[in-house]
Amino acid sequence: MSRGGELVAPGRVAVVTGAASGIGLGLAERFAGEGMRVVMADVEAPALEAARDQVAGATGGEVVAVVTDVSRLGDVEALRDRALEAFGGVHVVCNNAGVGGSTDPMWEIPVGEWEWVLGVNLWGVVHGVRTFVPVLLEQGEGHVCNTASIFGVFAGALGPYGVSKHAVVALTEALHFQLAERQAPIGLSVLCPGAVRTNFGSSARNRPASAGSTRPPTAEQREFQAFMANLTATNGRAPLEVAGLVVEGIRSGRFYILTSENRNEAVRRRAEEILDGRPPAAPMGR
Ligand SMILES: NC(=O)c1ccc[n+]([C@@H]2O[C@H](COP(=O)([O-])OP(=O)(O)OC[C@H]3O[C@@H](n4cnc5c(N)ncnc54)[C@H](O)[C@@H]3O)[C@@H](O)[C@H]2O)c1
Repeated sequence: MSRGGELVAPGRVAVVTGAASGIGLGLAERFAGEGMRVVMADVEAPALEAARDQVAGATGGEVVAVVTDVSRLGDVEALRDRALEAFGGVHVVCNNAGVGGSTDPMWEIPVGEWEWVLGVNLWGVVHGVRTFVPVLLEQGEGHVCNTASIFGVFAGALGPYGVSKHAVVALTEALHFQLAERQAPIGLSVLCPGAVRTNFGSSARNRPASAGSTRPPTAEQREFQAFMANLTATNGRAPLEVAGLVVEGIRSGRFYILTSENRNEAVRRRAEEILDGRPPAAPMGR
């Protein structure tokens, strides 16, 4: 068993961002169910409070909630300080908060939209890594799990979202080499979910005014959104199931954690497309 087996255990401390909903809430619930002390972070204050009460009520665990905008370095540093103050250490860090965003043509997407999506999905992970990895190195143990997407592994016309998720995979791979070179006893995973039943479809609820105005979706975009919503609702896995895969992945030392076998073929095809020099085929056949 990898050292991860000792990290998801009673008394250990997990920090989860984007913990008020969906996958993050599932992770918090599972970690608390394992007897861990949990720090739940999210930008949505009322939802976070309700989620904290839900997790604490269901598990009887020690749970702290910290309102955090992961796109702001100061917020993430305050999250670290609060976690250390409350529990004296951090053993598992899940940089999970993420938002969807525009699928308009790349050249038309407003700069503010790019900044919002990359700010949460990429800078949130950068801040999480810069802030928490030094704590784990100092402790001499810990595990970081960054949430990307299956759209970070293969191609897809998802605008800034896909860009951010490929970047999260690349960031986690680079971190792997650097930690391995130093023989640092820190575990690392990148979670690449397929469809999961969450509130992801309404990410715009957290869209700041600075992201600028959006134009109404085209008929084709509405059709794609309906297709994705249906896919998520019908084929989507439950967040707690995904949390189970993460815990299993941490315990067994799994680096890439995929959640939907029906996407395996598209992952293989991408490698072949790259070697053949072909342009990418749409991952879902559309
Ligand atoms: N649901 C899926 O099918 C799916 C698939 C692939 C990847 N993902 C990824 O999973 C992660 C979790 O998404 P989810 O599906 O659970 O969606 P969700 O909307 O249910 O949960 C995301 C959480 O992130 C929070 N959040 C948004 N902006 C934030 C910010 N600036 N700072 C802190 N928290 C913020 C939201 O308030 C929300 O609670 C995301 O990174 C998403 O890209 C989801």
